[in-house]
Amino acid sequence: MSHDSHVIVEQHGTVLRVALNRPEKKNALTHAMYTAMSDAIDRVEQDPGLRVLLLTGTADCFTSGNDMLDFMTNPPAGGGSPVMRFLEGIRRMAKPLVAAVNGPAVGVGTTLLLHCDLAYAGRSAKLQMPFVSLGLCPEAGSSLLVPMMVGQRKAAQLLLLGETFSAEEAREYGFVNAVFDDADYQQKAMEKAQQLAAQPPASVRLAKAQMRASFPQLSEVMMKEGAEFIARLKSPEAMEAMSAFMQKRKPDFSRFS
Ligand code: COA
Repeated sequence: MSHDSHVIVEQHGTVLRVALNRPEKKNALTHAMYTAMSDAIDRVEQDPGLRVLLLTGTADCFTSGNDMLDFMTNPPAGGGSPVMRFLEGIRRMAKPLVAAVNGPAVGVGTTLLLHCDLAYAGRSAKLQMPFVSLGLCPEAGSSLLVPMMVGQRKAAQLLLLGETFSAEEAREYGFVNAVFDDADYQQKAMEKAQQLAAQPPASVRLAKAQMRASFPQLSEVMMKEGAEFIARLKSPEAMEAMSAFMQKRKPDFSRFS
């Protein structure tokens, strides 16, 4: 077991379990945490003794998304930034990625699920993609993958209004495979990860690659979204939204056109 930058990494047989562990900030993701997750992805990809990466949070919180203070004071600058390395890592992973989610799963905490092969939720999970509400724009391929999954009408509700949705709704929309009681979801997700790890590994990798090949435009979409997202971080609308969050007040967008 290694413990680095608020990320706990443990090997369970051929499954590498990576748990976000910054509960005092609702597991908000810092540059160091993205880097620790990317290092874990590289480890799984390179180690023939590892077959599945299981990503989770603390028992009652997956993640509140990118650390807002980092966004304001040290925003990602481009392709080589820790967040972009992480997103590229989950998009490209040849081996399977499984998630176990409960409590808040905000921003990238929801969009990363789009890149997981299997995902499981505790009944108290609350998912949200509030990019527009923050003066930003969809990322991680969500502008392509969410409308594909739920249709344009529902996608507008989730991405333009940024409405929160429940574990059951996440199952219905296809963000997660199944919902379990809060007390069980971690164990159930580990069982599924172990079940996947027991499958013939080369066949799993081939089937995953075949399924991914059905949307070859994903890489290009993610690059475009990434550049637009980085530009939006400096916009007056985003500044107002993020300052409001830090100051624990409602944002006021009335002066913007
Ligand atoms: N970045 C930085 N700090 C964050 C954070 C984030 N994304 N999310 C939560 N925190 C901090 C809060 O500022 C608070 O810090 P404090 O105790 O020093 O005041 C602490 O974590 C607890 O958060 P709080 O809002 O009090 O918890 P809650 O249970 O009432 O609500 C959330 C949890 C996740 C719903 C709420 O914190 C939230 O909406 N966070 C922002 C999510 C977001 O917009 N992320 C960016 C997506 S791109």
